[in-house]
Amino acid sequence: MTAVNANIASPRLLLVAGGAVKQIAEVLAKFGLSRPLVVTDPFMVSSGLVRNCLDPLAAAGITAAVFSDTVPDPTDTVVETGVRELAKGQYDCLIGFGGGSPIDTAKAMAILSAGGGKMRDYKAPASADTAKLPVIAIPTTAGTGSECTRFTVITDTERDEKMLIAGLGALPLAAIVDYELTFSVPPRTTADTGIDSFTHALEAYVSKRANPFSDALALAAMELIGRHIRTAYAEPRNAIAREGMMIGATQAGLAFSNSSVALVHGMSRPIGAHFHVPHGLSNAMLLPAITRYSVSGAEPRYAEASRRVGFAAVTDTDPVAAAKLVTGLEALNKEMSVPTPADFGITEAAWFQKMPLMAEQALASGSPNNNPRVPAAAEIIALYQEVWTGAPRNA
Ligand SMILES: NC(=O)c1ccc[n+]([C@@H]2O[C@H](COP(=O)([O-])OP(=O)(O)OC[C@H]3O[C@@H](n4cnc5c(N)ncnc54)[C@H](O)[C@@H]3O)[C@@H](O)[C@H]2O)c1
Ligand SMILES: [Fe+2]
Repeated sequence: MTAVNANIASPRLLLVAGGAVKQIAEVLAKFGLSRPLVVTDPFMVSSGLVRNCLDPLAAAGITAAVFSDTVPDPTDTVVETGVRELAKGQYDCLIGFGGGSPIDTAKAMAILSAGGGKMRDYKAPASADTAKLPVIAIPTTAGTGSECTRFTVITDTERDEKMLIAGLGALPLAAIVDYELTFSVPPRTTADTGIDSFTHALEAYVSKRANPFSDALALAAMELIGRHIRTAYAEPRNAIAREGMMIGATQAGLAFSNSSVALVHGMSRPIGAHFHVPHGLSNAMLLPAITRYSVSGAEPRYAEASRRVGFAAVTDTDPVAAAKLVTGLEALNKEMSVPTPADFGITEAAWFQKMPLMAEQALASGSPNNNPRVPAAAEIIALYQEVWTGAPRNA
């Protein structure tokens, strides 16, 4: 093993249990907090799901204000609105309640309130280490892992760019990880967010920045997600599957936050920015082709991932197991009805026209540099083309 050079960070408290959201007031009290602004999305309010957070606060005598104007794939303009809202009250913390979008919005509000300027001033490779207020994250999808990562992903609306913002300022103080909140997630979102989690674990494990801490979490996450993703998709109220997916998502978040993501995420963000494909879905569209391309850079690791997720047998050789990872991911996409970019409604002309810009934005994010096989811009364009046609090119 090469010498370890790791930089490990995690929230101070992770409360992980079915029903744990009921303890939200106790969690705030542990940190001396009592004036939260709850950041969530309109569906959480209209569906009543946000009451899972507001009712236990009210029972403890805390009437929380709610900012519910967050959007999927949060934008700089929504964050700016949120910062103005934050300035209107005497808040001492933010509660991000929802999927990755509300949690990322809360994190970005805390960062922008501290340093001012524009969200793009904080984009990687800058380090966003300061937040004005602590964030308590309560995920309702399984999931982005945002509840325990040092990242937030915000779209620059002027440049159509999904920016990665990284630093300790984006790391929540605490998270409440309660799988019961995910029972209502519909199958499409269960599949998309579940594949996002799997991609986090796989990319953390094959990343050039992998280390013994991230490896342990990534391998555990791949096992859990491999065991439970199909059941969670087919049986939304299956508690064992939902719990397995929630724990897997959080482990995967800790894994990639302490290692990195890689080429799939680098290429996925521009698809989200230009074509508004949900984050997990654009990962799923890319995952088989990018894995096929990357295997030669870390075959033993891809093989081990394939065994852990359950696509390969422990007795399979590395080349066989790695090949089974690619075919297993293709089959999983089929089983969970992952659309192609064309099925999603993107036109061939638009996809091909955006490929050079998407390749440039993917490289600029820095994520592809962590991939075990690092592509040049022309190779990224060829990979986007392969994802469109569905036909493997000669690697
Ligand atoms: N910060 C990080 O480390 C990190 C990591 C990965 C992804 N992300 C970002 O997270 C965002 C995606 O987050 P997401 O995939 O969780 O989606 P999301 O937050 O956009 O939610 C997707 C949809 O699911 C609904 N939903 C959420 N919880 C639900 C529930 N319990 N029941 C029913 N519906 C529910 C939402 O209302 C929304 O309509 C993207 O912007 C992505 O870039 C961030
Ligand atoms: Fe992701």
